[in-house]
Amino acid sequence: MTAPNVFQPPTHEGHTTHIGSLDEYRRMHRESIDNPEQFFGKLGRELLSWSKPSTTVKSGGFHDGDIAWFLGGELNVSYNCVDRHAAENPDRVAIIWEADEPGHDERWTYRKLQQEVCRFANVLLKFGVRKGDTVAIYLPMVPEAAVAMLACTRIGAIHSTVFAGFSAEALRDRILDADCRILITADQGKRGGKTVHLKQIADEALAGCPHVRNVIVFQRTGDMAVPFSAPRDVWWHEEVADQRPYCPPVPMNSEDPLFMLYTSGSTGKPKGVLHTQAGYLLGAAATCKYVFDIHPGDVFGCMADVGWITGHSYIVYGPLALGVTTVMFESVPTYPNASRYWVMVDKHRITQFYTAPTAIRALRRLGDEPVAPYKLDSLRVLGSVGEPINPEAWLWYHDVVGRKRCMIVDTYWQTETGSHIITPLPGVTPTKPGSATLPFFGIDVAILDPETGRELEGNDVTGVLAVRQPFPSLTRTVYNNHRRYLDTYMRPYNGYYFTGDGATRDSDGYIWINGRLDDVINVAGHRISTAEVEAALILHPACAEAAVVGVAHDVTGQAIVCFCTLKSHGAGDSLEKALIGQVRTHIGPFATPQRVVIVHDLPKTRSGKIMRRILRKIAGKEVTIKDYDEPESIAAKLGDLSTLAEPGVVKHLLERFA
Ligand code: WT7
Repeated sequence: MTAPNVFQPPTHEGHTTHIGSLDEYRRMHRESIDNPEQFFGKLGRELLSWSKPSTTVKSGGFHDGDIAWFLGGELNVSYNCVDRHAAENPDRVAIIWEADEPGHDERWTYRKLQQEVCRFANVLLKFGVRKGDTVAIYLPMVPEAAVAMLACTRIGAIHSTVFAGFSAEALRDRILDADCRILITADQGKRGGKTVHLKQIADEALAGCPHVRNVIVFQRTGDMAVPFSAPRDVWWHEEVADQRPYCPPVPMNSEDPLFMLYTSGSTGKPKGVLHTQAGYLLGAAATCKYVFDIHPGDVFGCMADVGWITGHSYIVYGPLALGVTTVMFESVPTYPNASRYWVMVDKHRITQFYTAPTAIRALRRLGDEPVAPYKLDSLRVLGSVGEPINPEAWLWYHDVVGRKRCMIVDTYWQTETGSHIITPLPGVTPTKPGSATLPFFGIDVAILDPETGRELEGNDVTGVLAVRQPFPSLTRTVYNNHRRYLDTYMRPYNGYYFTGDGATRDSDGYIWINGRLDDVINVAGHRISTAEVEAALILHPACAEAAVVGVAHDVTGQAIVCFCTLKSHGAGDSLEKALIGQVRTHIGPFATPQRVVIVHDLPKTRSGKIMRRILRKIAGKEVTIKDYDEPESIAAKLGDLSTLAEPGVVKHLLERFA
């Protein structure tokens, strides 16, 4: 390789990585593609414990979306994540909880985790939850969130975790879509010293959910002013106190549903992405093992929230399936100051640390001083996830946090893929800052021509990122909407799983992710659909039309800018604020627009289609009112405007945006 910025995978004295070389990886990868039955059959036996072995490793395909892995097999996810480790080494620490309050932490052993999962599974049974039922979880970052998820899996219930930053309306819609009868929440949450009023928000959501029978409320803060209405509401601590600390795990078929997680796509309505038991767990465990090079005794620190897929796979299921210690971090990287992460790494001797580019960029801005005093010598692998990482942030992570001795893994994946699909591997992959590098085992990457759908062979090509054959942790359906599953992922390019992202394969065969091709914006690693934001805006009585675009942002990667027209003119700043509030109430604070601009008209084609390209460039300040006097410069910057129904709209938008 000739490129200047190539980093060889570091070695650590006295430590041997699971895979020793790029050649070994290539051999294994080839086998995983040419002979997936053998490869994953073996991996499934190595990493998972089965109550009944499977008869068929791989079946089905993209065309009908009848993908199935490990048919005939039976296992229980909570048994795999808890019992087998508790039996072998009950005193090993399963979870380290780092609370919002600095200096406050808890250590849960596998024995304790097993007892709490069992007690809570018995509580769920008491409230009538049965195999195949859906349970909604709306909890802050406390160990009980993992307990609630694992307790569901123990009895075969399907959990639907809703990120605690979602609003009442978003929670309501998710509860209704999945027809959940039980909600698990907390009195309040704590984040960066602030209180999140979870139970109050949950109550607002439940006003629209007549089928919810019971709400199990975990006491995080103990504030007695929290609304509570017995007999619907019951306290977690009171209920578990009555239960026996053992509950037999229910053997589940490999393809029984495990959980669903809502995610945003091109249309306004979020989809319940469904994952199943064995394939998902194998994907989470295998990527945890090889991508983070996890060994017994490691302390794995994933800074995500359990409300997102990263938290599912890399706080709960992956590390626990491997029997190591996982860290649950309740706070934010800058509370009480910008050293919080590094204090924590040294205190718990974290070996793998996993966070998002937005956090890295935010910390980089605050300089090296908050990092410098800490040893950080326990770290071997630093992970990045959720959005493309710019080379500057990558290098800072590598040099300042990793002290040039840690492997950086830029992991590309999605809620739908369940686990990493393109990523470097420690001990294996020379890295290039900004590239997710090479496919994981079982991932048969293809780059397609966006128009023809034909595969772009060889290197130095750019197109649509797709996958050529099913892999174990790929989502099996959209909850109650298989047609939408096929339409979204399998039909855009026949014979391929369509990721929705663009990508380049460079001259060395390395993959670079170029971002979403659909109308999805990535704000601080959170996936937000422009259609969903628009739908929220037009629910406001004053708003006639809305068009939402993403603009580049130094810290959060992208930010949301909204253009709205009104039903009647004459509104001022207060309406802009109200419209921002509208988005916060309908989706949640993490989707707060950076700006709402009220305009008289939107740029449309004669057939009425909004030309977002124009809005994107104006919102991104690629063109300003100063350019307006030079028609050539406008044309060069905005592209062909001949299809615009009202050419005058451009000047108006530039004036309004100035
Ligand atoms: C979208 C998936 C995967 C867990 C968190 C987000 C973007 C994700 C990377 C990366 C460039 C990335 C893609 C993808 N993305 N990881 N390493 N480099 N882009 O999960 O909410 O399902 O979002 O996040 O655009 O499609 P998600």
